[in-house]
Amino acid sequence: MRYKILDILREKKGFVSGEELGGLLGVSRAAIWKNINRLKEEGYDIESVSKKGYRLNDSADILNTNEIKYDNVIYVKKVDSTNDECKRQAEKGCQSGLLVVSDCQTGGKGRLGRDWYSKPAEGLYMSILLKPNISPLEAPQLTLLAGMSVAKAIKKITGLNAGIKWPNDVVVNGKKICGILTEMSAEIERIRYVVTGIGVNINNEVFGKELKEKATSVFLETGKKYKRNIFIDHIVSRLTEYYSLYCKEGFAAFKDEYNSLCLNVGKIVRTSGNIPIKGKALGVNDKGELLIETDTNIVPVRSGEVSVRLKNNKYI
Ligand code: BTN
Repeated sequence: MRYKILDILREKKGFVSGEELGGLLGVSRAAIWKNINRLKEEGYDIESVSKKGYRLNDSADILNTNEIKYDNVIYVKKVDSTNDECKRQAEKGCQSGLLVVSDCQTGGKGRLGRDWYSKPAEGLYMSILLKPNISPLEAPQLTLLAGMSVAKAIKKITGLNAGIKWPNDVVVNGKKICGILTEMSAEIERIRYVVTGIGVNINNEVFGKELKEKATSVFLETGKKYKRNIFIDHIVSRLTEYYSLYCKEGFAAFKDEYNSLCLNVGKIVRTSGNIPIKGKALGVNDKGELLIETDTNIVPVRSGEVSVRLKNNKYI
């Protein structure tokens, strides 16, 4: 009921009296008043003026299942990690496509055992459960699709020139704005499920000492605060579209688009594996492996194995 009130206030834009709302929804003015108070408690900015009624100031950045335009979504205000929650749901038998979103993570995880800074209301923290019929070796390709979805969404919503540092960092003006962590449960030849977790720095105003030089946010790049649900909608609808094509045609269908977003192409890179490979990045192949041209040959590097650094550690 309260979200129906919200829809009416959004549609009408100006003041709507309690009587009119009650009439439209077939309930008493007292019931309207009660529900308006609940909405206010949830963080909605609703002005109440006697004899005029209620008016919504729709700029608040609020997350809940009503604000996320995706059917199969679980929203939790606070969670250890959306990836872990998504895995728990998968173990309970949840279907492919489940999206878990949270306002804040107490144990946000990054790649290589690092933490992911996850304060409330600043960033976007979400994970999607997928059950593709692919080999475990191909699972990192899903990370590449997620990176493309985020880079495209950032460009579309903000106009910022977002690119990807292979395999999974989305970068704006040389600084990381999004990280992606793909985890899976698999048998030798078969994937049980994959969880792709996406963290985007949206409204962060500052970063601590150790992140300051490397990380940025949509707010720091544009000077504007954004509603996180807009990013969720864009990223998830793109990823869903990419995923259905991927299931039919594999990663080859995305190679050119990925390479057009990939910031490493044409740059000197060095892998961080035990035996580092150094050379010019040529872009990814049909399997999503980064091709590195060394002095002697062209080496394909798989993203699960290593991450690459640009020569001077900057993304340019
Ligand atoms: C990286 O190190 O770049 C990957 C960061 C991934 C962070 C996201 S936030 C949502 C999801 N839940 C997690 O615990 N991690 C991922």
